[in-house]
Amino acid sequence: MRDFFGEAYPRVERFALMLADQGVLRGLIGPRELTRLWERHILNSAAVAPFLGQGTIVDVGSGAGLPGLVIAAMLPERRVVLVEPMERRTTWLFEAAEHCGIENVTVVRGRAEEVQDVVEADVITARAVAPIDKLVKWCAPLLADGGEMALLKGQSAPEELERAKYVLRKFGFVGSVESAPTLPDLAPTTVVRLQRTM
Ligand SMILES: C[S@@+](CC[C@H](N)C(=O)[O-])C[C@H]1O[C@@H](n2cnc3c(N)ncnc32)[C@H](O)[C@@H]1O
Repeated sequence: MRDFFGEAYPRVERFALMLADQGVLRGLIGPRELTRLWERHILNSAAVAPFLGQGTIVDVGSGAGLPGLVIAAMLPERRVVLVEPMERRTTWLFEAAEHCGIENVTVVRGRAEEVQDVVEADVITARAVAPIDKLVKWCAPLLADGGEMALLKGQSAPEELERAKYVLRKFGFVGSVESAPTLPDLAPTTVVRLQRTM
């Protein structure tokens, strides 16, 4: 694990420990997640890092900070904006970033479809928030010219992408399903990349 995260490991470890300590009590994760926090949540989030291009990263529906806080810890030179509508979750995101020494995050309280006046993204990520078609409708207005999306999805990503094809066409995106490996003994994560065609 240390080798995988390199110099980011102390920040990521602090975040994992804080989530394990307070996450269930604060309604951020279920009790059954505690034993699989690293595999199912931290590493699953980290897998999207190679797909995040350049510029400002926006994590929509950040919740407990997945993937946003993990990504910000791994990419300290990048600006990471965490968009989350629920107040108690934005409070958590502020506290967790400060406690873990993750200094490159901005927390914005609001729904993705309501924050276009304050958020501009070069790349948008999201995990367990909404189907692809909804995410595209909510998030396309937040993207800068040439911006793209890298969404963490499950194994049914190809079917979800197929169901979103009319929305993708309408908003000018082309989608692909990518395999995102982390540790050799873990199944790769699935990332859906959406790139603009116009
Ligand atoms: C199931 S949780 C997932 C949280 C986190 N991404 C994760 O993987 O653990 C979904 C999150 O999306 C947020 N959310 C729901 N609708 C949203 C919207 N329209 N814009 C932004 N966030 C939204 C919820 O408040 C919640 O925190």
